[in-house]
Amino acid sequence: MTIKVCVGSSCHLKGSYEVIEAFKEVLKKYDVEDLIELQASFCLGHCALGVTVGCEGLEAAEKGPQVEETPDGFILHSVNAGNVEELFAKEIYPKLFLN
Ligand code: FES
Repeated sequence: MTIKVCVGSSCHLKGSYEVIEAFKEVLKKYDVEDLIELQASFCLGHCALGVTVGCEGLEAAEKGPQVEETPDGFILHSVNAGNVEELFAKEIYPKLFLN
């Protein structure tokens, strides 16, 4: 699967770089670096809700205040360096082994 962290101008200002660094740490901590490709992405079209992270190739997550279903998977809204691990553990990690 692929995690795409938006680095468009709005998300950049809200801390995309720190989010990418936090994801790197979390992927290492959970030992899933081989299963997940971490990428930077152009604007994902949800600028007001950034930092936005696209999760492609996973079963859609249950909808929630920070989760929006997409044809390829789902998008996480309002991601920051402080909530990356919580969102990963809740919305991504449990689904990694379902496919
Ligand atoms: S700049 Fe990130 S969604 Fe538009």
